[in-house]
Amino acid sequence: MTMREKLELLERRVAEAEQGGGERRVKAQHGKGKLSARERLDLLLDEGSFVELDRFVVHRSTDFGLDQEKYYGDGVVTGYGRIDGRLVYVFSQDFTVFGGSLSESFAEKIVKIMDLAMRNGAPVIGLNDSGGARIQEGVVSLGGYAEIFLRNTLASGVVPQISAILGPCAGGAVYSPAITDFIFMTRGTSYMFVTGPNVVKTVTHEDVTMERLGGADTHAGTSGVAHFVHDSEPACIAAIRDIFHFIPQNNVDDPPRGRGTDPRDRRDEALLDVIPDNPNKPYDMHDVIRRIVDDGQFYEVQRDYAANIVCGFAHLGGTSVGVVANQPAVLAGVLDISASLKGARFIRFCDAFNIPLVTFEDVPGFLPGIAQEHGGIIKHGAKLLYAYCEATVPKLTVITRKAYGGAYDVMSSKHIRGDFNVAWPSAEIAVMGPKGAVEILFRKEINESSDPAAATDAKIDEYRGMFAHPYIAAGRGYLDDIIDPRDTRPRLIDALDTLRTKRDRNPPKKHGNIPL
Ligand code: HXC
Repeated sequence: MTMREKLELLERRVAEAEQGGGERRVKAQHGKGKLSARERLDLLLDEGSFVELDRFVVHRSTDFGLDQEKYYGDGVVTGYGRIDGRLVYVFSQDFTVFGGSLSESFAEKIVKIMDLAMRNGAPVIGLNDSGGARIQEGVVSLGGYAEIFLRNTLASGVVPQISAILGPCAGGAVYSPAITDFIFMTRGTSYMFVTGPNVVKTVTHEDVTMERLGGADTHAGTSGVAHFVHDSEPACIAAIRDIFHFIPQNNVDDPPRGRGTDPRDRRDEALLDVIPDNPNKPYDMHDVIRRIVDDGQFYEVQRDYAANIVCGFAHLGGTSVGVVANQPAVLAGVLDISASLKGARFIRFCDAFNIPLVTFEDVPGFLPGIAQEHGGIIKHGAKLLYAYCEATVPKLTVITRKAYGGAYDVMSSKHIRGDFNVAWPSAEIAVMGPKGAVEILFRKEINESSDPAAATDAKIDEYRGMFAHPYIAAGRGYLDDIIDPRDTRPRLIDALDTLRTKRDRNPPKKHGNIPL
């Protein structure tokens, strides 16, 4: 064979590999409203940047007639490419080949790019669309999953790992995305569950659809498993590209700087009017965040889950920051189990990847109640506390209004290594809110009064005058300053500048024991 003939053979094989499971199956894939594995990569990566690895790998099994049916690539497209010029490693499961099911060779391909990502300090993005373990391969397939789970775990906190669920993801297969940092899902075409509706029906006699059991909205709003949900695959993949505006390549790199043009010294007049005169009235913390961060751009994480806490990425004077904020507009911004879990996981991501934390605080405390106590608010709330305590990235806190009780300590207080803690003049910092405090301290007096309601109001006024302000905390140095709300942006940007060279370390240890 001449070189030209050999090249022609190569081209034919490449074309064959790019067909996946064949035209009929690709058509069926499109018919379900899904893109093919390669179409997804085209959308995800900078044009022309994808370099495929292992395209000629085929499975090794011979059972159940598999020796007669082989496809180049074996159901997963793997390699590397660029997002805004930055290196990322990718795998894209191809549902048109054996339903994207995972074989030994398939797993080896994923393991290879994960190892390369770790060695070269680059993120891994997995596009999942799979029927799970390749049934014909039995335990060999299970072993392949375990190899991936191990690498997910070892890579955690070293390189960012992102999962998109764009089709089925069932059984033990869910645990690889679950260990990664962020899960993106698409409405109507993706689902995740450990056991599907049929098994659920047999075991618990519950009737449930796939969508309700493990669809995108279920995981975005109810279970908290998914961090982002989108209506279409192009929107979902575009959002994956966008998250790279905020996150670094690895744990020893700095996050990328924002490219906005928002002036660093911009004051915002409207911040004077955000806090209602009545301290029990809600307001939307998003308004505060958007007015302060660069160009009002806020990339919110888990928007539909535990909305009483708001987490997300933004830039401040070009520096990438993780924002954690109580949300007075939802459950008065109280901390409950879900909010604690959401906040803790986000904080730990930011800390692992050198992203400074900016906390906006307006919190009446932890949520009381039997359900919360029996659900373990003690251990779950402790996760949020632990995450803030162990974080060594720059920590900045702005108390806009309430900072009551244990929640004052938890929300990045000075005492747990807050670097720059300020309050607006509207801040109220105390062991508890005025009404609760008065009812405990003056119960007898109020009960014996001829007009208990008036006596309560009088005591509340007295308490407010004594405690519901930031001056006691500022007098102790627990706050670095009390600031004009209009200056919040320039003050935070200035503080971030001073913290660029921050050095802080936790004591050497194998690992801590976060209350799981
Ligand atoms: C081998 C599989 C497969 C699998 C699907 N296919 N799943 N082949 N192993 N796990 C093949 C089908 O035979 C079919 O081949 C093609 O993929 C498309 O499948 P369909 O059933 O036609 O597609 P659809 O109707 O869209 O249904 C998708 C599905 C269903 C819901 C995912 O295929 C399904 O239930 N598959 C089995 C899921 C499962 O139980 N997997 C094991 C989970 S346990 P042809 O040739 O017709 O195109 C697990 C353990 C992991 O994964 C453990 C880790 C610790």
